[in-house]
Amino acid sequence: MACSEGATIFNTCVRHMHNFNVAVIPGDGIGKEVVPEGIRVLEAAGRRFHFTFAWREFDWSCEKYLSTGVMMPSDGLEQLSKFDAIFLGAVGDPRVADHVSLWGLLIPIRRGFRQYVNLRPVRLFAGIDSPLKNWKPGQIDFTVVRENNEGEYSNIGGRLYEGTPHEMAVQQTVFTRRGVERIQRFAFDLARQSNKHVTSATKSNGIIFTMPFWDECFRKISAEYPDVRADQYHIDILTAHFVRHPDWFDVVVGSNLFGDILSDLGPAVVGSIGIAPSANLNPEKEFPSMFEPVHGSAPDIAGQGVANPIGQIWSGALMLRHLEQPEAAAAIEKAIAAVLAEGSLRTPDIGGQSSTSQMGSAIAALI
Ligand code: NAI
Ligand code: MG
Repeated sequence: MACSEGATIFNTCVRHMHNFNVAVIPGDGIGKEVVPEGIRVLEAAGRRFHFTFAWREFDWSCEKYLSTGVMMPSDGLEQLSKFDAIFLGAVGDPRVADHVSLWGLLIPIRRGFRQYVNLRPVRLFAGIDSPLKNWKPGQIDFTVVRENNEGEYSNIGGRLYEGTPHEMAVQQTVFTRRGVERIQRFAFDLARQSNKHVTSATKSNGIIFTMPFWDECFRKISAEYPDVRADQYHIDILTAHFVRHPDWFDVVVGSNLFGDILSDLGPAVVGSIGIAPSANLNPEKEFPSMFEPVHGSAPDIAGQGVANPIGQIWSGALMLRHLEQPEAAAAIEKAIAAVLAEGSLRTPDIGGQSSTSQMGSAIAALI
C-alpha cells in the first residue's frame, strides 16, 4: 500500500507525528485565565490533526518581579531559545510600572529573537456587533503588519537637567534599511496570499527624515511586486479611513508606533479587544516566534473567570500556521467563527454571561 503520510509497516500507514515543544508564559491577570483555554483548544486540534505538544510553563511575570526584582532570569532568552514557539498570555500589574514589565520581558524577547514582524489580523465575525454600523461579516478582513524591532521604540535618548526649568527629554527614532525593507517585503509577500493590496502608513509631511526614508523603501519594494497594488496614507487620515472605509484594506504595513496604534484601532472597529490575536514572528525561524493576544492583563476583570479567551485561542491558530499546520489553524478559526455565529455562548465583553472556560470548551468541542 502506498502511503504519502509516512512509513509503511506491515501494510499499515504509520503517520509521522509531530511533537512541538512550546514555552508557555501565562504572565499576569487574565493571562493566567485565557492561556489554559488556548492550550485546551490546541490540544484538541492536535488530537484531530495528529500532532502533540510538550508544554513547559514559566512563571515570569510582574508577580515574579515583585518577589525577585526581575521579570525573567538573566539567562531567560537562552532558556527559551530551545523551544519551537512561545505562547504568552499578558503581562502587567498596577503595582509595577508598565515600562518595567514591557522592557523586562516582552521587548527583550521580541528583539533578542529578531521577531521583527508583529502580525495582527482584523476580521468581522457573524455574531459580533461592530461599533461601526452596516458592515457585514466578511466585508472587514485585513491584517496589520507592524515593525516590531526598531523605529520609534528605541532606547536611544535621555533626559537632562531633570527637575529644573531647563529639563529636556530626547528620544531617537531608528530606521535601518534592513529593518524597513524586510518588514515591507513581508507585507508584500503576505498580500500575495490574499487580495494583493498593501497600504503603507506614513507621515512624511511632518516627520521629514525617517518617514521619507520609509516611503523611498516602500517605492523600491513595491516595484519588486508589480502584481500587488500599493498605496499609502498619512497616519492621521489612515486612522479615519479605518473607521469610515475598513473594507479598503488587505495588508497594512506600519512602523513600530504607527503599527501599534493601527493594530489596536483595527480590532476595536470589529468588536472586542478580547478577540484580537497577534504573532511576533521571526519569519526565517532562526529563533522561536511568540504568540499572544493583543489585550493586556485586564486587572479590572482579573480573577473573575469572565475574560474572553478568543484572542488567546486565535493566537494559538497563528502559532499552528507558523508551525506549518495550516489545516489545524483553519479548523480553529472556523470553530471560533461558528461559536460566535451560533451566539448562545458569549463572555460579558461581547454581551453575554458565559465564563472563560465555557467559551474555551465550546470551541475545543467543535474541533
Ligand atoms: P487591557 O487590554 O488589559 O484592558 C483594556 C480593557 O479591555 C479593560 O477594560 C479590560 O477589561 C478589557 N479586556 C481586555 N482583554 C479582555 C478580554 N480578553 N476579555 C474581556 N475584556 C477584556 O489594557 P490596559 O488596561 O491598558 O492594560 C492593563 C495592563 O496590561 C497594563 O499593565 C498594561 O501595561 C498591560 N498590557 C500588556 C500587554 C501585553 O502583555 N502584551 C498589552 C497591553 C497592555
Ligand atoms: Mg498596543
